[in-house]
Amino acid sequence: MSRIIYLDHAATTPVDKRVFEKMKPYFTELFANPATRWTSSISKKVDEAVEEARKNVAVLINALPEEIVFTSGGTESDNAALKGVAFANKDKGNEIITTPTEHEAVLKSVESLQDFGFVIKYVPVDRKGFVDPDDVKKLITSKTILVSVIHANNEIGTIEPVREIGAICKERNVLFHTDAVQTIAHLPVDVEQMNIDLLSLSSHKFYGPKGVGALYIRKDVPIVPYMNGGGQERGFRSGTLNTTGIIGLGEAAKLGKKEQKQRENSIAEFRDIFLAKILEEIPAVYLNGPEGDRRLPGNISIIIQGIRNEPLLVALNEKGIIAGGGSACSAGKKNPSHVLQAIGVPEEDLFSVIRITIGKDNKKEDIDFIVENIKETTNQLRALSPFWEG
Ligand SMILES: Cc1ncc(COP(=O)(O)O)c(C=O)c1O
Repeated sequence: MSRIIYLDHAATTPVDKRVFEKMKPYFTELFANPATRWTSSISKKVDEAVEEARKNVAVLINALPEEIVFTSGGTESDNAALKGVAFANKDKGNEIITTPTEHEAVLKSVESLQDFGFVIKYVPVDRKGFVDPDDVKKLITSKTILVSVIHANNEIGTIEPVREIGAICKERNVLFHTDAVQTIAHLPVDVEQMNIDLLSLSSHKFYGPKGVGALYIRKDVPIVPYMNGGGQERGFRSGTLNTTGIIGLGEAAKLGKKEQKQRENSIAEFRDIFLAKILEEIPAVYLNGPEGDRRLPGNISIIIQGIRNEPLLVALNEKGIIAGGGSACSAGKKNPSHVLQAIGVPEEDLFSVIRITIGKDNKKEDIDFIVENIKETTNQLRALSPFWEG
């Protein structure tokens, strides 16, 4: 296969070879069900590996192992957190606060709760996608039971002031959930320091396998289980454990903890060089979201005015460069991005977005080649475009 430059790490990451090696024996000789650990020595070994993974995930976010529940990924964790907390606390109040720039897993979950009498309040975001913690404070009433604010936006990379929002929630005795799917192992996350009660994470965003994730639930948070059955995961999430996936997630968490700073630095350096170059080389290009430290290290979301993103992405793909449109998570939708709309990107630019998300194995030596290809295709598309008068 010819060389591929993969630049869509916010959509998913490759499984790290070390993670894959760790998982392998659990597909074959160590296949047993950890639930039968009292009677079977293979099960006991698998159970120990699962608990080791739980510890690694807990250490990564400064939680206790018993506060980690394994799930099938970010979507399930978000659903479980929001619905579980809403139903467990409905006697206390019916108001939930969130933002218009959440991932669909949060937005659709809270929308579904409206049918059960819950009222959803949306805290506004500014032109860069930031929530003002004071606006959260203003929306909290005696009926508020939960606030959910994404840690960093998957489309535009804005890192929200989660710690300040968590402190406000703690002071007002309101539970606080964050979707940290894009930040785990990419930025330091500490649930204690950040006053987080519930946190969603997903393995495939940090070099682990797909279809597995975790929900952190602080001890004593009132929450109802939504998946009933055999009582696995301390009764919160029934179903035979995805042992290989969990073991992969645990290994990815361990490596993520060890290598986080180094990855963050080299990825942010790639981002800054790339961004400077693309803004210099191509006219009428602008960045969505903030610059610098308040942006995810690996995220570049730009509007290239006067073109549509699909032909550009297809042409780049032909050259072996894989980048993204706004977001990958809403399976082939043609609607404009709700995030770009919420931050006020003009209507005519909504389909001109490309998202480049950098990973630990991208090479700075490739930047010139990538920018050259984007420039060449942009020039060709603009020459054909009835909307481009440059
Ligand atoms: C911020 C955010 N939350 C949730 C999800 C969903 O995670 P999963 O793919 O593991 O269901 C994604 C996936 O892209 C995401 O970026």
